[in-house]
Amino acid sequence: MKTRFIVSILLTASIALPAIGADNQEMVMEARKVIKQFATHLKGELKAAMKEGGPVNAISVCNDRAPGITDEVSASSGWSVARTSLKPRSTANSPLPWERKVMEEFEAKKAAGADPRTLDYSDVVEENGRKVFRYMKAIPTGKVCLNCHGGDEVKPEVEMRLKSLYPSDRARGFKEGDIRGAFVLKRTF
Ligand code: HEC
Repeated sequence: MKTRFIVSILLTASIALPAIGADNQEMVMEARKVIKQFATHLKGELKAAMKEGGPVNAISVCNDRAPGITDEVSASSGWSVARTSLKPRSTANSPLPWERKVMEEFEAKKAAGADPRTLDYSDVVEENGRKVFRYMKAIPTGKVCLNCHGGDEVKPEVEMRLKSLYPSDRARGFKEGDIRGAFVLKRTF
């Protein structure tokens, strides 16, 4: 029931795609809108699940729902949407070489004093003879994230569940304000 409600919201919230040949700034604005929609839904489900049954219960939201929400947002927005990290939990979210490079730049900028909330990147590349607009935005680590991505904050029962689901989990030991990862959006035009 809850799942269906969220799907229908996503499908009705249509996003106007920028015109072909639009300048990058317009694409950047659209990409940010899609990220906002994606992040709001993910956080909403996460918070509700945490309230309902604590972090162990909420793991299933990230485990089952995050990939599903990603696909739904991709389908309804016309953008390809993904999350990645320099320290991924799921191997399915491992970064491509260009994504790794961008995140390393984010880390360098943060080390030089930049606010992680402001870090983003965009470019246009050619793939198979078609132009692709690519956009990445850093995801800062908030307090609630530490329940599952922190160090000592992660409860033993949460740790056990995570270990069984993600034997090669690297997404631990984060602190508030760290860059947890990044959104990756792409659109062919
Ligand atoms: C209840 C536990 C839990 C909480 C709380 C949580 N996450 Fe996660 N997170 C996960 C799980 C499980 C995955 C793996 C999802 C998958 O299989 O795609 C994940 C994956 C991610 C990824 C994708 C990259 C990767 O490592 O696989 C990002 C980015 C991320 N989380 C950021 C956050 C942020 C930011 C917060 C706080 C707003 C947060 N998470 C809170 C459990 C959690």
